[in-house]
Amino acid sequence: MSDHRSLLVTSALPYANGSIHLGHMVEYIQTDIWVRFQRLRGHQCVWVWADDAHGTPIMLKARQEGIEPQALVDRMKIEHETDFHDFLLSFDNYHTTHSEDNRYCAELIYTRLRAGGHIAQRTIRQAYDAEAGLFLPDRFVKGTCPRCQAPDQYGDSCEQCGATYSPTDLIDPVSVLSGQPPVEKESEHYFFKLGDFEPMLREWTRGGHLQPGIANKLDEWFENGLQDWDISRDAPYWGFEIPDAPGKYFYVWLDAPIGYMGSHRHYCRRSGDDFDQYWRPDSPVEMYHFIGKDIAYFHTLFWPAMLHGAGFRTPTAVFCHGFLTVNGEKMSKSRGTFITARTYLQHLRPEYLRYYFATKLGAGIDDLDLNFEDFRQRANSDLVGKLVNIASRSAGFISKRFGGELTASLPEPQLYQQFVMAGDSIASAYERREFSRAMREIMALADRANQYIDQHKPWVLAKDAERLPEVQGICTQGLNLFRVLITYLKPVLPQIAADSEAFLQIEPLTWVTVQQPLLSHTIGRYPRLLERVEAEAIQAIIEASRDTDTTDEPAPPALDLAPEIGIEQFLQVDLRVARITAAEAVPKADKLVRLTLDLGSETRTVFAGIKAYYAPQHLVGRLTIMVANLQPRKMRFGVSEGMVLAASAADDQSGVFLLAPDSGAQPGMRVR
Ligand code: 2FM
Ligand code: ZN
Repeated sequence: MSDHRSLLVTSALPYANGSIHLGHMVEYIQTDIWVRFQRLRGHQCVWVWADDAHGTPIMLKARQEGIEPQALVDRMKIEHETDFHDFLLSFDNYHTTHSEDNRYCAELIYTRLRAGGHIAQRTIRQAYDAEAGLFLPDRFVKGTCPRCQAPDQYGDSCEQCGATYSPTDLIDPVSVLSGQPPVEKESEHYFFKLGDFEPMLREWTRGGHLQPGIANKLDEWFENGLQDWDISRDAPYWGFEIPDAPGKYFYVWLDAPIGYMGSHRHYCRRSGDDFDQYWRPDSPVEMYHFIGKDIAYFHTLFWPAMLHGAGFRTPTAVFCHGFLTVNGEKMSKSRGTFITARTYLQHLRPEYLRYYFATKLGAGIDDLDLNFEDFRQRANSDLVGKLVNIASRSAGFISKRFGGELTASLPEPQLYQQFVMAGDSIASAYERREFSRAMREIMALADRANQYIDQHKPWVLAKDAERLPEVQGICTQGLNLFRVLITYLKPVLPQIAADSEAFLQIEPLTWVTVQQPLLSHTIGRYPRLLERVEAEAIQAIIEASRDTDTTDEPAPPALDLAPEIGIEQFLQVDLRVARITAAEAVPKADKLVRLTLDLGSETRTVFAGIKAYYAPQHLVGRLTIMVANLQPRKMRFGVSEGMVLAASAADDQSGVFLLAPDSGAQPGMRVR
């Protein structure tokens, strides 16, 4: 057993504007297994993390819901934390980046960096939505790719050709908020001078803190030059105001990694642990960050540089993992494979997924696939068929025939010893995050244990009263092998391990307790430790996750045509171009907007059921098409003098799209 170690571990902070899904769970389960393993080995291991609560998307989501950002992030934090507890995650603290602890740490790091001369200020031009009154994050501008001319690309990169650029480079850019072309506007920004840290970073990245694939990526980044990093955003912004810079806020990605520190500070304030001991440059504590490979840049360049520049220690290692695919493809709402943590938990115990991910996880950054058939087989054959089977076969006899008594010695102590000795290799696999390897080695032992029982056939011997003592020995051996296996699996299957400790009537197992077998001891009644995974449960998860209202691969709907008409009948409908000159939501109606339409020579009032799809102020000025000779209809809120034309699916679920002529058309023009 290695010397006592002290570790601080984090997982990436999920954004506070969405639910946790199984893609997130890969990382959190990976972290939890590693953390539990460290503790099982007798090390002190603290795991802290938080919700990532700031930024424009969260501000806008709250606006959309008509609530304050604070209310949104409070609600999401409770939802996330509940999911995590139910997945048996053993974190020590779950905080939020929107906390006084985090504000304190962000200001401290920033002011120290500023005092060290690592903050620059300069004016930049940026895309601004004049209608929404907001500077636009790159992803809030869309337009045509300047390189390959693909339409409808985000402002930071092209999904077609992979070009990266800034929103101002897009051809015909529009704001996704208002649909209007953004204007360029100047504002003063604050920058972190990453280049100041190049020597330190070059050394750090070669210091064994990174996986090889990631270290190579860093070499590329060095070659491209370390650019200043824009760490400020203008009001209105949901975040922390920058000290001495009214109206300027820290960019969400500045205070996100600092959120690790903020959460740890909160933990120390509650537990009495010594915060400085963890963060000072010569700290004896090891610090590890589990993250997805997509956010390596932030964690392997900005973060160590910020820490170092502010006089803190740097991470011992950053552990990146790949992405989750489901049945070999990207998670998809229409296929029902975009599965939230909660939907999974409503149908299955967390241990199956924890075990399945463990069988798939290695130390690298490869993506991993959740294949449902494979998932069910692994759970049923490994966990139920092999592992639990050893306990249930052995414990039944011990309880029924021997009053729960284990024998005073093992019939095959060498076999037991082999199981104990396998622990070193399994521990080393866990330590290196080679969980799939650890699971293979453990399951090979489970096969050995089952073979042992199969060979000795206690169920046959039990029929012969004279051989009963042998049966007691065989089952004592079986339960002891099970006890070793469940110890090795305790990081992955914490609840089954706890239930096993309870029925064996023993103290919590640790990596060292297995060295001595359990003998001359009374056990309790065997509970059913785990049920099989039924195909129906998986089907139910997929059904519950299937979202019919997405467009990622729509099934072509059957056309449900109205009865045929002649051209004369069609021409009886008088369609005209109209300009919307005023629009207001009808207060007491769920759906209605009152439109004032200019037809050139006359004005009409029309009520349209589009409230859920258009903000009235965005309609004003637009051209549309109306039925001009429709009989006026008296409605509860007034008379509707015609009808505007809009496209929609049969159920209105995928949105409503107002028709409009090409530009140049004039109000009053006939449409046919
Ligand atoms: O990519 C994300 O989901 C970010 N919310 C991760 C932040 S991790 C850390 F830096 F806070
Ligand atoms: Zn392109």
